[in-house]
Amino acid sequence: MAERHAEPREPEAAAASRLVDVIRLGATRLATAGCVFGHGTDNALDEARAMACQVLGLTLEMPDVYLNAQLASWERAAVLNLIGQRATSRQPAAYLLGEAWYMGMPFTVDPRVLIPRSPIGQLLERRLEPWMDASGVRRIVDIGTGSGALAIIAAYAFPGAMVDAVDLSAAALEVAACNIQRHGLARRITLHQGDLFAPLADTYDLILSNPPYLDEAEYATLPPEYLAEPRLGLLAGHDALAVAGRIIQEAASFLNEEGLLVMDVGGRQLDMETRFPDLPCTWPWFDRGGDGVLLAFASDLQAHYGR
Ligand SMILES: C[S@@+](CC[C@H](N)C(=O)[O-])C[C@H]1O[C@@H](n2cnc3c(N)ncnc32)[C@H](O)[C@@H]1O
Repeated sequence: MAERHAEPREPEAAAASRLVDVIRLGATRLATAGCVFGHGTDNALDEARAMACQVLGLTLEMPDVYLNAQLASWERAAVLNLIGQRATSRQPAAYLLGEAWYMGMPFTVDPRVLIPRSPIGQLLERRLEPWMDASGVRRIVDIGTGSGALAIIAAYAFPGAMVDAVDLSAAALEVAACNIQRHGLARRITLHQGDLFAPLADTYDLILSNPPYLDEAEYATLPPEYLAEPRLGLLAGHDALAVAGRIIQEAASFLNEEGLLVMDVGGRQLDMETRFPDLPCTWPWFDRGGDGVLLAFASDLQAHYGR
């Protein structure tokens, strides 16, 4: 009688049935594909864990004991399938899932909008203390709103305020409208299409902005994950400070007396200080990572750029 042999099995895949094994296998897949991180995570293991949690409907903050849970074969297949798509397409995970989590909240995203990640969210969570008296904030504008994430977080942080949100991209504004609806904030947030302050007639207590700040040379070297994002969201032009510089010069005319400009310029702090050497700015420190956010008071902007 012929000896019966067990089916040969691929040892790695066979072992990967606990959540922790699937995450580790997924991390290897992401790393060997050369994936680049930066849309909410900064390494392969964290990204694989975040993707697994999102697919399985678990929170990232789940107790570690659940990492030992055995996955059903369909769960394992769903996680590894998504991670495979991420590795092959080099699209950010948030686009594949149609959703980004930012500051503990879900936002609908697709390639029409940048995936929200600005550290400005951390300042809004603290209602901009100690720089602002939150009780006096009645009017807020978010310039270059993209997905609408900052406008929405600002509306939550300052429940007594009305918020305007501007973007040049009509396509981005469609996604922002969807997020505003999703968060039930349609009565408090108004969308405007146009160039920076052009569609606005009001003045504000708070101007928020995360404008594009890459020049052509930097944009040309971006990995596929970032090239998947809208060009208008990242590329400022030949001059990296083309958009941020205009915001500095125009903000004074749109701020109330005690108002504050909060603008994310990423790695451009030195360039901004060189371009605007006389403008007093504060650059807050972020305990959960991030830098390059400039705070400038209306009085200082008005002293330099008048109304
Ligand atoms: C870096 S993304 C920021 C998106 C969103 N605020 C965030 O933090 O995730 C910059 C946004 O500014 C918009 N934008 C670029 N130039 C603009 C301009 N001149 N006027 C208005 N919006 C502009 C882009 O379409 C894009 O949505």
